[in-house]
Amino acid sequence: MSDTDPRPCVLVVDDERGPRESLRMILEPAHRVIQSSRGSEALELLRAHPVDVVTLDLHMPGMRGDEVMRAVRREFPGVEVIVITGCGSVESAAEAVRQGICDYLQKPFDVVQVTAAVARAVARRGARSRLCRFLEELGHAVGRDREAQALLDDLHASERLRARLGEVFDARGGRDAGAAGAARGVAFLELLAETIETKDRFMRGHARRVAFVSGLVAERLGLGAEEREDLRIAAFLHDLGKVGVPTDLLLRDGALEPAERRIVEQHPVIGARLIASLDLPAGIALALRHHHEWWDGSGYPDGIAGERIPLAARIIGVADAFDAMTCDRPYRRALAREVVVSELCRFSGIQFDPDAAEALLACVEAGLCDQDAGSLAGAAASAAPGCAPQAA
Ligand SMILES: [Fe+2]
Ligand SMILES: [Fe+2]
Repeated sequence: MSDTDPRPCVLVVDDERGPRESLRMILEPAHRVIQSSRGSEALELLRAHPVDVVTLDLHMPGMRGDEVMRAVRREFPGVEVIVITGCGSVESAAEAVRQGICDYLQKPFDVVQVTAAVARAVARRGARSRLCRFLEELGHAVGRDREAQALLDDLHASERLRARLGEVFDARGGRDAGAAGAARGVAFLELLAETIETKDRFMRGHARRVAFVSGLVAERLGLGAEEREDLRIAAFLHDLGKVGVPTDLLLRDGALEPAERRIVEQHPVIGARLIASLDLPAGIALALRHHHEWWDGSGYPDGIAGERIPLAARIIGVADAFDAMTCDRPYRRALAREVVVSELCRFSGIQFDPDAAEALLACVEAGLCDQDAGSLAGAAASAAPGCAPQAA
């Protein structure tokens, strides 16, 4: 058996040769399959090889299946376990659920059942490692030397986040692991963005409002449903990289020193890097990276100009500035509507894409932007389907 084989690896643990062999025959076309007839040997194999999924018989001589299950959960928390048993009971099923196993099948099993259960487990394993990589990146960005597992524990401590996490894993592993799964994954990211906003009390609700206003502008500019959906995700996550900026710089009353400004200006790059591990469409990371570029090329981080700036980034840029002007900041109160309108006009073609600025002015004119964040969310749901910020 080669550990460099890219196929997911399944360890089949059963003391009977018959079920072991049938599982091998069912799974081998799409998986690397290794087998063990004893629990203690299975644990040795897990220590020696990178395994993604274990299928486990509960009734075995020597180390019992439930003991093996607990040992696997303790020592290899990222490995998914499917219990396949000939004499299951309500108690053993309940214990398996408590241990967080992925699936519970009764013998005799059929091909469809087993294939679907293993596919779900592999997908769940993939989602978990993507999330762990993301959290590791997040850990580096926040400058805290924390294990991904510790951050995961923190997230698990919040009931809402826990529910979202469950949805992410289950949806990705379920039969409908496509659009619905991705949407739920995004709902989790939105919640994460909100959690990060708590670093700066003036930013609370900022991502949601920018997503809403970006949606209005995109609707006005005639973007397609898919582009609007990617834009909504990017707008929600646009300041995610601020997690890597010291809180005192975000809350500073006075002007920043040039060195401090350079740190703050890293947030688009950090944000793009953070989401790179998440299998989101590539345009989303680009929109994060470029949301502070200016139409005339004098923005950051790359100083690109005009249509070289991705459209989503240009839309987020104008929506972001609009939100900054219409909300209280540490150094000033929200600006009056006439001032906001004149600033949008003044910086059109300098800071803002003229088309995006014009579209936003039309929305302001139509009164679509004159509401608070709560009613904005409701208005978005009816005015701009596909662009509405999701209630987290
Ligand atoms: Fe930003
Ligand atoms: Fe922002």
